[in-house]
Amino acid sequence: MSLLLTLLLSGIVACCGHPGDSVPRLLLVSFDGFRADYLETYHLPHLQEFIEDGVLVKQVTNAFITKTFPNHYSIVTGLYEESHGIVANDMYDADTKKTFSQFNDSDPFWWNEAVPIWVTNQQQGNGTSAAAMWPGTDVKINNATPHFFMKYNFSVKFQERVEKIVTWLNSSDPVVNFATLYWEEPDVSGHKYGPNDTENMRKVLEKVDNHVGYLKSKLKASGLWDSINVIITSDHGMATCSPKKLIVLDGCIDRSNYVLIDKSPVAAVLPKKNKKYVYNLLKKCGNHMKVYLKEEIPERFHYRHNKRIQPIILVADEGWTIVQNESLLKLGDHGYDNALPSMHPFLAARGPAFHRGYKQSTINNVDIYPMMCHILGLTPQPHNGTFSNTKCLLTDQWCINLPEAIGIVIGVLMVLTTFTCIIIISKNRVAPPRPFSRLQLQSDDDDPLIG
Ligand SMILES: *[C@@H]1O[C@H](CO)[C@@H](O)[C@H](O)[C@H]1NC(C)=O
Ligand SMILES: *[C@@H]1O[C@H](CO)[C@@H](O)[C@H](O)[C@H]1NC(C)=O
Ligand SMILES: *[C@@H]1O[C@H](CO)[C@@H](O)[C@H](O)[C@H]1NC(C)=O
Ligand SMILES: *[C@@H]1O[C@H](CO)[C@@H](O)[C@H](O)[C@H]1NC(C)=O
Ligand SMILES: *[C@@H]1O[C@H](CO)[C@@H](O)[C@H](O)[C@H]1NC(C)=O
Ligand SMILES: *[C@@H]1O[C@H](CO)[C@@H](O)[C@H](O)[C@H]1NC(C)=O
Ligand SMILES: *[C@@H]1O[C@H](CO)[C@@H](O)[C@H](O)[C@H]1NC(C)=O
Ligand SMILES: [Zn+2]
Repeated sequence: MSLLLTLLLSGIVACCGHPGDSVPRLLLVSFDGFRADYLETYHLPHLQEFIEDGVLVKQVTNAFITKTFPNHYSIVTGLYEESHGIVANDMYDADTKKTFSQFNDSDPFWWNEAVPIWVTNQQQGNGTSAAAMWPGTDVKINNATPHFFMKYNFSVKFQERVEKIVTWLNSSDPVVNFATLYWEEPDVSGHKYGPNDTENMRKVLEKVDNHVGYLKSKLKASGLWDSINVIITSDHGMATCSPKKLIVLDGCIDRSNYVLIDKSPVAAVLPKKNKKYVYNLLKKCGNHMKVYLKEEIPERFHYRHNKRIQPIILVADEGWTIVQNESLLKLGDHGYDNALPSMHPFLAARGPAFHRGYKQSTINNVDIYPMMCHILGLTPQPHNGTFSNTKCLLTDQWCINLPEAIGIVIGVLMVLTTFTCIIIISKNRVAPPRPFSRLQLQSDDDDPLIG
C-alpha cells in the first residue's frame, strides 16, 4: 500500500513540467526607492493584481541608515548594518585605508562580515542561485558568487535583466532555486523630481508597473508562474528636499578640521585631530540635525558597533540636506531616521508559499531573511530578524492575529479562574487546615545542596 502511494507520488512529481519542480523556488525583486504610499497614491494595476493574488505588508521598517547598499544587504542577510558591515554607500576603513563607493564596491573585504542568502543557498541546498543584479551579487563573498550573475551595469534594460533571470530560473542543469532582480527606479526619478511631483512620479511608477506585468508574462511563458514564489519589495522610501532646507557645514567649521566620509542626510565625520572640538562646533550648526558621537548614537538605530561607523555622525531632520557649500541638486532624498514613514518601502509576495489576499501592517526588513530561508528549507545564519513576524504571510504556518490572540487569552483566563474557584471551594470543604504544613515547607527550603 505505502509502496503504491510512493510510486504514485513520484509519478506525479516526475510527470508534470519542469525538472526540479519539487524544489521550492524564490525570486526576490527590488524596485529601488519604492515608498510604501506610492501603492495608494497611484493606479498600478499589475502590482494590484499581484497583491490580490498574494500578500501585502503595507510598511516595511528598514534599517538605519536608510540607504541603498546597506538595506539591500540587510534584506539578504537579516542583519542590522552594524552587523553586516555595509554601513553606508560611501565608507572608509581607517586600518586598511580602503574606501568603498557605489563605483568601487567589488572588494570582498567590505562584504565578508556576513554571508548573504545566495551563498548559503549554494552551500547548504541542492540548488544554485542566480542574480540579475542586486548590490553584492557580482562580488565574491565568502569566496562565492551566485552560479549565474551579471556585472552591475545600470544601462542594461529591465527587459534584458528579466530575460536573463527567467532563462536561468528555467535551467535544469544546474537547478536555480533562488534568484534576485534589481531595478533602479523609482529611486532615480524620486531624487530628481522629488516624491511630491505627482506628474513625473506617476509616469515612472506606471513604467515600473508595466515592468511587473512584463516579468509576470515572461514567467508565465516559461511555465514557472504557478510554481515560483515571487517577493517584490524595496530598500527605502523618499522624502521631499528643498533648497531652503540646507545645513551648510562651512558656515560652522573649517574643512581642515575633518574629512567628510559620507554626506547627506546622514553625514559621517572623521575628525582630523581634536574630536571634542569638531563635535562642539558641529553642535552649534543650526537645529535641523542631530549630532552624535559614535557612542551616543541611539540604541534603536543598531548603528554603533562597527569600526566603519565614523567617530561623529550627523543625522539631518526629514527633508533637510547637509552640504559643505554646494547648492542643492536633488529634490528628493533618503537615508533619514528609519522610524519615519516616508523612509519605508512595502513588501508584496505571491506563490505557493504565500496566502492569497492577506494584508499585514508591518514587518522589519531583517525579518525577510528568515522567511526566505524557511521557504527554501535553509538553516539561517545568525541574524536579527524574527521569523514569527512573517508567519501570517505563509501557508504552512499556524498564525493567530492580535484580536484572536486576545480572545484566546481572555478565554483561557476565564476557564482558569473558574477552575481555581472550584478547587478552592472544594478544598475548603474537604480539607481542614493543617497546623504544621508551614513549618514543613520551611525546613524543605533549607536543602543544603542548593546554597
Ligand atoms: C577601490 O577600492 C580599493 C580598496 O577597496 C582600492 O584599493 C582602490 O584603489 C579603489 N579604486 C579606485 C578607483 O578608487
Ligand atoms: C536536499 O536534498 C536532500 C535529498 O533529496 C533532502 O533530504 C534535503 O532536504 C534537501 N535540502 C534542501 C535544503 O532542500
Ligand atoms: C553596459 O550595458 C550597455 C547596454 O547594454 C552596454 O552598451 C555597455 O557596453 C555596458 N557597459 C559595460 C561596462 O559593460
Ligand atoms: C508633499 O505632499 C503632501 C501631500 O500633498 C503634503 O502633505 C506635504 O506637505 C508635501 N510635502 C512637502 C515637503 O511639500
Ligand atoms: C523552459 O524550459 C522548458 C523545458 O525545460 C522549455 O520547454 C521551455 O522552452 C523553456 N522556456 C524558456 C522561456 O526558455
Ligand atoms: C565651495 O568651496 C570650494 C573649496 O573651498 C570652493 O572652491 C568653491 O568655489 C566653493 N563653492 C561655492 C559655491 O561657494
Ligand atoms: C544581530 O545579530 C548578530 C548575529 O547574531 C549579533 O551579533 C548582534 O548582537 C545582533 N544585534 C542585536 C542588536 O541584537
Ligand atoms: Zn535605494
